[in-house]
Amino acid sequence: MRRILGGFLSFLLIIIVLSCDQKHQSDKYDHLDRRTKIRLKQYLAEGKRLYNLHCANCHQADGTGLARLYPPLKDSKYLISNREKSICGMRFGQNGEIIVNGISFNQEMPENIQLTDLDIAEIATYVYTEFADTVQIITLNEVRSIMASCKKDTIVNTQ
Ligand code: HEC
Repeated sequence: MRRILGGFLSFLLIIIVLSCDQKHQSDKYDHLDRRTKIRLKQYLAEGKRLYNLHCANCHQADGTGLARLYPPLKDSKYLISNREKSICGMRFGQNGEIIVNGISFNQEMPENIQLTDLDIAEIATYVYTEFADTVQIITLNEVRSIMASCKKDTIVNTQ
């Protein structure tokens, strides 16, 4: 009897935790109009798939990076204050020393030249919404204009 009751209580707890989590998720997008919300969710779904395929190897699925080898994207101040460079690097890779949240990294990030502008818009939307907590669509137009002004050899960090 006690075991059944225990089982039932843990089940109840899981349901409560799950429903709180869902509420948190819907709150995050509540200020957006319906069309934007649908578009954002499409970008996020595709962005997550592409991120797991092309980026998670190094930066990890939860964006926390790997020790001193691969910098974190989660809560990365670099990502916020170097938006163009970060988005540009998603296609062209980057190298040279960078400081991410006070820690120095100096490894080469390989290029991902096969990614289309749309792929990058979706990945960047996922990265900035999921890891930088900013809730925004990074549009195809923004990616196009960033890509037009950045070239492979410009992504060498000098800081
Ligand atoms: C082979 C490992 C590897 C892969 C795959 C990779 N990166 Fe990186 N990434 C790195 C390394 C190493 C750096 C630091 C480069 C340096 O020292 O200049 C970096 C830096 C970054 C930065 C800037 C620093 C920060 O943490 O904010 C961003 C943003 C980033 N990567 C995003 C991505 C995205 C998005 C993808 C997938 C399209 C990706 N990376 C794929 C290794 C990788």
